Amino acid sequence: MKVNLPIGIFDSGIGGLTVYEKLRQRMPKEDIIYFGDTGRAPYGARPEAEIRLFVDGIMRLMSLFGIKLGVVACNTITVLGTEKMSERYNFDLVGNSSGTLAALSASRTKRIGVLATENTIANGMHKREILRHNPEAKVFCQACPSLAPLVEAGDLSGIRLRHDLRRYLLPLRKAKVDTVILGCTHYPYLTPLIQEMLGAEVTLIDPADETASRVEAYLQQNKLVNEDGHGESSFYFSAKAEQAKIIAQQLFDARMATFAQIELAELESFCRQPVLRKVLAQHFDATQSRELLQQVE
Ligand code: DGL
Repeated sequence: MKVNLPIGIFDSGIGGLTVYEKLRQRMPKEDIIYFGDTGRAPYGARPEAEIRLFVDGIMRLMSLFGIKLGVVACNTITVLGTEKMSERYNFDLVGNSSGTLAALSASRTKRIGVLATENTIANGMHKREILRHNPEAKVFCQACPSLAPLVEAGDLSGIRLRHDLRRYLLPLRKAKVDTVILGCTHYPYLTPLIQEMLGAEVTLIDPADETASRVEAYLQQNKLVNEDGHGESSFYFSAKAEQAKIIAQQLFDARMATFAQIELAELESFCRQPVLRKVLAQHFDATQSRELLQQVE
């Protein structure tokens, strides 16, 4: 039954684990499959056509896993428009929330900062949304090209990271923002550092809180809540799965969880049977696997 299927979450890399963590807290019984495209991260400055191509491959992988809902735990992908994307698959997609309404309600001065990847900032979605709700607000957007790659490399507080972060935050400090949206799912790993550099009086908004509540609302509205699930999680990465596990440990107890690797070459041609068999065998019994294989042959 569809209710028993897992929720699929994906991101360019390990950033989406910050969204996974919020979902897990809110929905302890749901099974979750996570995919991070660590072999091709960062997506933040890649051409849109290339990102769409990668996402398409990931979606087909998710279809084969069999999921009841896809969660785009990546702002860079979300701003490309998830509704249109989901028309092509047999499940709906919920994109990462923008955090703009939460920022507007938290901000006293309506001077709001946005930190995100180059693509997300160039898209301008956060600024448009904030100004649509409050034309008087002042929005200060800052692209942070090196942050996601540094987080991917496991640098959450090193010299290079501190140096770059200080540089990215300076314009926001000068603009005297009182609220900052973490517009990339990699940035909540840096919350303590960002808070320290901006000062305790600045409110940081992690949009994943709203994403998690939207996912829960979607499941309730569509009668897809799994009341009897065991809350199993499976994590897949297209490279450096072991490193992902070490970094995930910053967010939750990942010691017992399986972090497996799906090689990039395999992902790109995952319709080939050996890979598919391996993936299917982890999630389905022999009869179900055979039926699914027949569908793609
Ligand atoms: N974590 C992603 C986001 O939320 C993208 C980071 C990257 O791959 O550049 O935008």
